[in-house]
Amino acid sequence: MVGIGPGGPLDRTRRAEEAIAASDVVAGYGRYLELAADLTAGKELIATGMTREKERCRLALARAKEGKAVALVSSGDPGVYGMAGLVLEIAAAEGISVPIEIVPGVTAASALAARLGAPLMCDFAAISLSDLLVPWETIRSRLEAVAAADLVVALYNPRSQRRTHQLAEAAAIFRRHRPGATPVGIGTAVGTSEETILLSDLDRFLELPITMRSIIIVGNRSSMRIAEWFVTPRGYAL
Ligand SMILES: C[S@@+](CC[C@H](N)C(=O)[O-])C[C@H]1O[C@@H](n2cnc3c(N)ncnc32)[C@H](O)[C@@H]1O
Repeated sequence: MVGIGPGGPLDRTRRAEEAIAASDVVAGYGRYLELAADLTAGKELIATGMTREKERCRLALARAKEGKAVALVSSGDPGVYGMAGLVLEIAAAEGISVPIEIVPGVTAASALAARLGAPLMCDFAAISLSDLLVPWETIRSRLEAVAAADLVVALYNPRSQRRTHQLAEAAAIFRRHRPGATPVGIGTAVGTSEETILLSDLDRFLELPITMRSIIIVGNRSSMRIAEWFVTPRGYAL
């Protein structure tokens, strides 16, 4: 399991690049294989579609059982809404015993935080707004809990073409607990040539372009703007 970071080669770890270089087979969602194309010349490639996660894991495990070194690539960190857990679950459920290593990567929340300034300096949470695997009722109750707990939150999978109401509901939940001027940062395709970074606030961010390639960071009641930066103070007395 190899996390290739949010996009370009500059955000990959050396451990990730070495793991891919040492592999015979590289498996992953097609777009992630494209992002790692500079590392995969001469290797067997297994590309599967976006919703084919189980198939991808089974194909990777099957090749590993044959004795191949397989790099199953995820964007960002494979342990954050990635494939690490599924590989371990399938291997255990199907009695597949092969050595497995999980190589961490820069997750989208860290990549966006660095572009915005320092929004994650204090306690924070991550919530995915995708209800494909988790019921919306559960996600909504988690949003209510982190909003009430005044945690900064990184919202993964905020919106897709078919899934739009969740983000509006999430915004309304945060608006009940935080001022409208609370900073909200939006990063789309962070770390790629198509990157856009926008800084807005709770009252206005829904008007901005947000896609399935976006991640959003919502500040807490202490978060502030310092010039063009979004900062959540850690609490130092200055
Ligand atoms: C299935 S999750 C994968 C998360 C990934 N494992 C990580 O650690 O960043 C997909 C979501 O991650 C976020 N994401 C992944 N890469 C991103 C990038 N380069 N820019 C902005 N958001 C990104 C988006 O919210 C996207 O909908």
